Parts: sequence; C-alpha cells; structure tokens
Amino acid sequence: MEKKFKRTTITSALPYANGPVHIGHLAGVYVPADIYARYLRLKGEDVLFVGGSDEHGVPVTIRAKKEGCTPQDVVDRYHNIIKKSFEDFGISFDVYSRTTSAIHHKFAADFFRKLYDEGKFIEIEKAEFFDSDENLFLTDRNIRGECPRCHSKGAYGDQCEACGATLSPEELINPYNANSGKPLEKKTTKHWYLPLDQYQPWLEDWILGQHKEWRPNVYGQCKSWLDTGLKPRAVTRDLDWGIPVPVEGAEGKVLYVWFDAPIGYISNTKELCDAQPDKWGTWQKWWQDPESRLIHFIGKDNIVFHCIVFPSMLKAHGDYNLPDNVPANEFLNLEGDKISTSRNYAVWLNEYLEDLPGKQDELRYVLTANAPETKDNDFTWTDFQAHVNNELVAVYGNFVNRALQLTKKYYNGIVPECGELTESDKATLAEFADVKKEVERLLDNFKFREAQKEAMNLARIGNKYIADEEPWKVIKADPERVKTIIYISLQLTANLAIAFEPFLPFSSRKLREMINMTEFKWEDLGSNELLKPGKQLADPALLFVKVTDEEVQYQKDKLAATIRANEAAAAKAEPVKPVIPFEDFEKLDIRVGTVLECEKVKKMNKLLKFLIDDGLEKRTIVSGIAKYYEPEQLVGKQVLFIANLAPREFKNGLVSEGMILSAEDFDGSLAVTTLEHNVKPGSMVC
Ligand code: MF3
Ligand code: ZN
Repeated sequence: MEKKFKRTTITSALPYANGPVHIGHLAGVYVPADIYARYLRLKGEDVLFVGGSDEHGVPVTIRAKKEGCTPQDVVDRYHNIIKKSFEDFGISFDVYSRTTSAIHHKFAADFFRKLYDEGKFIEIEKAEFFDSDENLFLTDRNIRGECPRCHSKGAYGDQCEACGATLSPEELINPYNANSGKPLEKKTTKHWYLPLDQYQPWLEDWILGQHKEWRPNVYGQCKSWLDTGLKPRAVTRDLDWGIPVPVEGAEGKVLYVWFDAPIGYISNTKELCDAQPDKWGTWQKWWQDPESRLIHFIGKDNIVFHCIVFPSMLKAHGDYNLPDNVPANEFLNLEGDKISTSRNYAVWLNEYLEDLPGKQDELRYVLTANAPETKDNDFTWTDFQAHVNNELVAVYGNFVNRALQLTKKYYNGIVPECGELTESDKATLAEFADVKKEVERLLDNFKFREAQKEAMNLARIGNKYIADEEPWKVIKADPERVKTIIYISLQLTANLAIAFEPFLPFSSRKLREMINMTEFKWEDLGSNELLKPGKQLADPALLFVKVTDEEVQYQKDKLAATIRANEAAAAKAEPVKPVIPFEDFEKLDIRVGTVLECEKVKKMNKLLKFLIDDGLEKRTIVSGIAKYYEPEQLVGKQVLFIANLAPREFKNGLVSEGMILSAEDFDGSLAVTTLEHNVKPGSMVC
C-alpha cells in the first residue's frame, strides 16, 4: 500500500435483519473484512471497522405479516441474533449498530434533504402497480404474471426464472400480487430519482479510468452497467416501514432501503465517535478527510450499489471520500446447491456453534481456504473435515505441539539458549523471514486465500525442520545441539501466533497464552528472538482436535432433511388416474377390520404383521409401514382393508390375505386410514 493514507475506514455490508447469518455471509464479507482489519491493527495502523444491521425494506414487512408481529419485532429479534453470531466468530467490529436507530434516521433524512434542497433529484410521476385491498404499491419482486417471452406463468416483475429474461413489471401479461394472487391495477404516484445518467461520464472516468486495479469481477460488472447506460433510479418508495421522506406532501413515502442503508456506515461511525470522541475523534475524520481511505467489503450482488449508486450519492453530496477499493466476493454454495435463506438451506452460524462448540477458527480457516474470491465456490462438510484434520490438526497443531512438548520434556518448559547456527538452521530462518513479505503483499491486495496458505507454510517449514533435525535422536549424542533446534522451533511457534492472528484469532490467543507472549506486533514477524532464553512457558494443550466422521455425517443428514422437507413442501398431488365405470369400483371389497395383534417381521424390517378380526374370521395381513408405527400403537385400532385381493406370498413364506389402506404423503411417509368412530368389524366401505 502506498503511504499516502493516514487511516483506513473498513465497512462490511449491513446484513438484512430478516434472518440469521450463514456461512455464505461469513465467507463472502465478514471474515475477509475482519482479517483485513486485524492485520492493519496489528501493523499499528489507524483503523475503523464498521458494521450494523440493515433493518428496513419490504422483506422485513412481509416476514412480519407472515408471523403476525410488527416489523420492529422482526428486526429486534434478528439484529440480536446476528450481532451475537458476529461476536461469537470474533468479527472485530469497532461499532455494530442498526438502521432503525434514531441517529441513523436523522442522519439519512438530513442527507436526503441536502440533496433535495440542492436540486440533485428529479421528480417523476408515473402509474405503478397497486393492490387496492392492501393499499400497497408493489415492488418488482412482489409482482408476478405471464412472461412476455416464453409465456410461462409466474414470472417475476424483474425476471423470468423459466427463460432467464430480465423484465420490468410493465411487460408482464396479467400481473398479479405474488403474495395473494390478486390481479393488480395501476395508480399514479410521485417519487424522487437520482439521475444516475448524469453521473455516467464521471463514473466512467473514475472507475474505468482510475480503478483498473479493482478485482476483475468488480471492474467487469461496473463496466457492463456503464456500457448498458445508466438510468435515473428511484430513491423513495410508497411504504410504511422505513425512514419517512423529509419533504412536505410526502406522507406515506419512505427512503428506499438501498438509499438509507449505506448511509448507515456513516451514521454508525457517528454514533461511535459521539460516544467516545477521545478515542475515535470526529466521524468526519473517517469519512471526509482526504487522508482517510475507504474500503467496502461486500458480496457480488451488492457491487452496483457500492460502486455506482452510493458513490454517486456521495459525489452529489460533495463532502465525502469515495471508496478506494471494493473487494467483492462471488458466492459460496453449499454441498453443490445455492445457499438460500427462504428455503432454510444454509449452515446458520448460531446452529454451527451449537453443534460444533468452540470451533470458530476451524470454520474461519476453511471459509478462507475456499474463499470465493474469483469464482463461486462450494462448501462441503467432507472438505471441511479434510482441511481441519489435514492442515489445522496435522500441520499447524502438530508442529506447535511437538515444539512445546519437547521443550517441556527436555527443559521443563524453559526456552533454551541458542548455540551456533548450522547451514540448515540459517536456511530455515531465511525461509520464514520471507513469509512475512509474501503474506503482506497478498493481504495488501485482498488475496486472503493465498495469504492464509502462506501463513500455513510457516508451520510446514517447522514440521520439516523438526523432522530433518530429529532432536529425539540427537539428544543422546549431542545434547547442546538440541537446545538450538528447540530454540529455533520455539521462535517459529511464536511467529505462527503472529502470522495467524488475523485469520485465526481464537487459536492465536490460546497459543500466545501457552508461550506467555503478551506483546506482539506484525513487525516482529520473521524475527528469531521472540522468545528469550530462560523464559518459562505454560503447559501445552492441543490447539485443534480432529473433526469426526460422525460430526460430518450429522451435518450432512441435517442438510438432507432440509432438502426433503423442501421437496415435500413443493410437491404437488399426482394427476388423477383414468376414469373407471362404477362396476369396476364395485368389484373391490373394502371393509373395516379390528387389529387384534401386530408385530414386527424378523429380517424384513419394513413389514408389520397384523392379525385382523374381519367380522367372519381372523386373517393375517402384512403391511410395509414398520418405519412409521410401533406395533403397539395399532393394536385395538380399526383399519380399512381390501378383503378380496388375491393372497400374496412373501419370500419367507409369510402370506398376506388382503391389503391395509394407507395414505402416502408427498415425502413418502405413510399414514394408516382409521375411522372417525368405531363400527362392527366386517362393515363394508362404500
Ligand atoms: N442488506 C444488504 C444485503 O444483504 C446489504 C446492504 S449494504 C449497505 O444485500 F451498504 F447498504 F449497507
Ligand atoms: Zn420467460
């Protein structure tokens, strides 16, 4: 990084407070932002790391309606869950606030008002889709209808998922309210628009001309927006949840969520600075002083807002710094499928910690190792286990454990003196001095995946060193030499604690406690004098433990159950079979029977064997419902069965004299048909 900046303001996208956060959020935005913030702090730089919850927008209101509570209830609940998850995973925000705060409401309204007063908006009145029952203008995603291109029903107002066409709601044939199915009418409404077309030439110069260093995915997406040509964008909405538009005659209108949310970065900074001015100075210092650098961490779906819309807002306002870089990530998939909040298909951070307590760093490590920096990536539990067991446990943990155990065994845990260095010692020290430069170069360029790999190389160097030097053999012939080997191994260990601090803060702290290292800074990385001879170390403990096959299986089963539940929810009833004449129905003899006995069938674990009182005699019927009932549950119940079905013989000689009627649910599970009240066994069903 060139040294023209005095300080760095780091923002990470404000997550919507309408659900918990999952591994995709962590991998895409919060872990890289946190690594970067920790790295700069460790270097002694002035850093502010801003986060918060994005609490406005239509999805919050829909969720509230569904749950029969207020939008405020919804965001209160998820703001707290999300905030706790971030704390649990060591995301080191300097401030984490929310867009429903009073400070934010005032700040965003003032921002809007300044632009309004200076004539930076244009007013447009036009007819939009309106649901008169709900007294609601509908947003694109909440309007559906027939696709004008492929004529599939159910296309959305912004896109047809069947043919992929980008649409506007006006193009839909027979548009209707996506939530209620009600046909829509049109009603005229007035909104304020930011004329992005006016900013186009400036944006072209600023992004395409001056920021060629941005990641190719970010630069490419901006170029494609600019090539298409920018249009004015509405910054207000007809809605009753959000920040009221601070203009007379704008009752019932609020600021568009994408207008107010990024301003949240600034208002959250203000909240912090107002509370602790001595520590943080003024908020203007972080946002308006040209010596401050601004970096936005986001996911790829946020690129247009952070590279085009928000910068245009800042430019229109005039007093603000523009982002220096926007290292956006692509998406993380899960076991080959798209992560989805609405389909509940995700690894939720709060649930992860319930299932795998204390394993925050393990997840941080794997998410960085698979970070979707240049393309979408896949998270699988098998891969998670492999990274943890083969790298954290077998390489990093193993090296540290060997170094500390040998120190304990030979020197009672006291750092030994370093003797004369051999050629191999010097080569090892030179190798690990190089790691610092490399990790820095990568982190400065937002290449977190490679940077972490490079840090892991330190541990590999250590393992190789100990394996080559074989102190356990040398100890007999040349005990003096072993002191030097252990000394070097311990310096490497201390280096690991520093190198991994941005990536794995929990393990680094644990390691620092084991080696009694209280002061440490990034500049020390590469030094071979971090632990002085004579220093007493604490008792070694394992840094990482293996993830078991059972733990992996449990997680896979959990995801499989979600997929099954979704399929069952989406499944439709089978089409009706061809019509039959009444005489065909009359051929069936369906009757009521009372279950006298019921038991499992040996070696055929799907089957239950029934003894049925059919009113005339007792008959045996075998039924494949053992997975869904315990035999005792059914004894004494009355069931429906087909009495005139040809007997059927099973492999083990068992004969079934009829068939008990069950309903097969969409997920394949079975429910036995019973009667609303008891009748005489043998009664006919007609
Ligand atoms: N809530 C948005 C999302 O999750 C991100 C908002 S970022 C901000 O996609 F800049 F608007 F705050
Ligand atoms: Zn279509």
